[in-house]
Amino acid sequence: MRHEIVEKNVGLLSVLVLVVISFGGLAEVVPLFFQKQTTEPVEGLKPLSALELAGRGIYRREGCVGCHSQMIRPFRAETERYGHYSVAGESVYEHNFLWGSKRTGPDLARVGGRYSDDWHRAHLYNPRDVVPESVMPAYPWLFENTLDGEHIADKMRTMRTLGVPYTDEQIAGAGEEVRGEREITALVAYLQQLGTVLKDTR
Ligand code: HEC
Repeated sequence: MRHEIVEKNVGLLSVLVLVVISFGGLAEVVPLFFQKQTTEPVEGLKPLSALELAGRGIYRREGCVGCHSQMIRPFRAETERYGHYSVAGESVYEHNFLWGSKRTGPDLARVGGRYSDDWHRAHLYNPRDVVPESVMPAYPWLFENTLDGEHIADKMRTMRTLGVPYTDEQIAGAGEEVRGEREITALVAYLQQLGTVLKDTR
């Protein structure tokens, strides 16, 4: 009759349900912290260059993640369209994640190399010039704004404390690499490397 006590006492039932669910959740989540597959970089993964990292900052600033995911799910409909599904080891140097969840536009996890730099520039200047039916906003200011490279080394140093293996040399040269470049150049550099490490296994 101990079971009856639980069934007749909503408070106790709730607490016990919570305990069971938490245990189930932990059993699923905790092993992921220790599996190589989820914690180690895929072969050939390199940290973003200073210019690509600056481009990533622009991607974040402009809210591209609000319309584009970077997460190909392991379903046929997705892998046929976008390429190999995303794996955790591709994201280990990502802080913060830009996986997204909204797909007003296509997934961009493997857009790197799919189009030329010129295509991206034309598209970002005015999407309608290359895709007449597009609802994507135009970003003409990226062609005017230049980067001053002021905080990029600090950013890389911070990334390093989070486990991204930047070398002292890369950090020392970062400001110089970025300074004076147009924002569009950085953004396109960022887009062109997306997903390229795993591309060949498709
Ligand atoms: C309001 C939603 C929206 C926002 C914000 C947005 N996009 Fe798009 N994007 C789209 C749509 C819709 C398409 C598909 C039509 C087209 O190609 O223009 C697209 C297409 C693209 C493509 C081509 C993808 C492919 O595989 O054909 C790229 C690259 C892209 N967007 C990059 C960006 C970047 C970079 C930003 C931020 C600067 C951005 N988008 C912001 C909606 C958006």
